[in-house]
Amino acid sequence: MCGVTDALAEPQIRIDDHLNGTESDGLAEEVREGLSRPLKELPPKLFYDDRGSRLFDRITHLPEYYPTRSERQILNRRAPEIVEASGAEELVDLGSGFASKTRALLYAMAGAGSLRRYVPVDVSQLVVERCAEELCEVYPGLRVHGLIGDFQRDLRHIPDGRRRMIAFLGGTIGNLHPEERGRFFRAVRELMSGDDTLLLGTDLVKDVEELEAAYNDSEGLTADFNRNALRVLNRELGANFPVERFEHVAFFNEARAWIEMRLRSLDDRVVHLDGAGIRVELDAGEDIRTEISAKFTPEAVARDLERSGLRVDRFWTDDDDRFGLSLASPA
Ligand code: SAH
Ligand code: AVI
Repeated sequence: MCGVTDALAEPQIRIDDHLNGTESDGLAEEVREGLSRPLKELPPKLFYDDRGSRLFDRITHLPEYYPTRSERQILNRRAPEIVEASGAEELVDLGSGFASKTRALLYAMAGAGSLRRYVPVDVSQLVVERCAEELCEVYPGLRVHGLIGDFQRDLRHIPDGRRRMIAFLGGTIGNLHPEERGRFFRAVRELMSGDDTLLLGTDLVKDVEELEAAYNDSEGLTADFNRNALRVLNRELGANFPVERFEHVAFFNEARAWIEMRLRSLDDRVVHLDGAGIRVELDAGEDIRTEISAKFTPEAVARDLERSGLRVDRFWTDDDDRFGLSLASPA
C-alpha cells in the first residue's frame, strides 16, 4: 500500500468492505428467490470470485469478444473530450473490474490537471484491491477510496464529492433486468448532484451471429466462466452442483434483445444448497438462467435514462457502431 499524503489528510488508499459478514445471508435470499422462479435463475454477480474475475479478464482479450475492444477504441479516442465535457475531478467506477479501460479516463484527467480521487466499486475484493494498489503507484497524488460492495445495494456508501463522473462501463448495465435497470438509474440519479455526470457503456444491437459468437467462444472460456457460478455456490452456500454435468448455453433472444446465458442440466437431479436451506429439483435438459446481456439502440438508452431524470448530453460509438458510450447529467 502507498502511505499517507500527510499526517492529517485522508490516507491515500482506503477500502471499505460492505459485503463483509452480511453477504452470505443476502446472497442466500437472492439465490432462494431466483431458483424458485418457473425459469430458474441465478444472479450474475456469482461469476466474480477471484477465479471468475480472472476468467472475465481473459474473455475480454478473446477475438470473438468485441465489446471491450470497441469500448476501448471510443475511450482511447475520446477520453480528453469526455473529461472536458464532464469537468470531472473524481471518477467513480461501478463494477470496475481490473479497470483496464478506465485508465484512459484517469490519464486524461491527470493530463487536464483535474484528477483528485478514484472510487472503484466492485463485488470482487481482488479487483478493488488490485486497482487501488496499481493506480496509486501510477498516480502518486491520487486518493483511492475503494468499495467492496454490490452496486445494486450499496450506492449510498459512495463518498460525497464534487464533480464526480460515475462510470458504468463494459455494458454491465445490460446484465440487469429491465425493472432492475430502472431502479438502478433512479438510484444513481438520486446520488448525483448538479455537477456530477454519468458515463454509461452500452453494447448495441447487431448481427445475431456476431452477438452469439461473443458468448460461445472457441476456447470455451465463457463456458468455464458460466459454470463458475456453480463453483461459487458450492463454496459459499455449501451446494453440491456437479459442475461438469451442466452444459453452457448462450443465445440471442430477439424478442427481448438480450443474450441469455444458461446452464443446462444433463441429468435428472436434486441439488442441496444447505447454506440457503433449500433443495432444488432439476429435470434432464432443464435450464438455469445465469445472465442476460441486453443490447441497446441509442434511442433506447436515451429513453431509459430520461425516464430516470437523466439527460444524454453526448453519445459516441466506435467505427463499426458496435458499442455506445453516453455522457448524461441530471435533467
Ligand atoms: N468495468 C469493467 C469490468 C466489467 S465486468 C470493464 O468494462 O471491463 C463486470 C464487473 O462488475 C466485474 O468486475 C464484477 O465483479 C462486477 N459486478 C458484477 N455484478 C456486480 C454487483 N452487483 N455489484 C458490484 N459489482 C458487480
Ligand atoms: C460484464 N458483462 C457486461 C459481460 C457481458 O458481456 O454481458 C459479462 C459476460 N458474460 C459472458 N461474457 C461476458
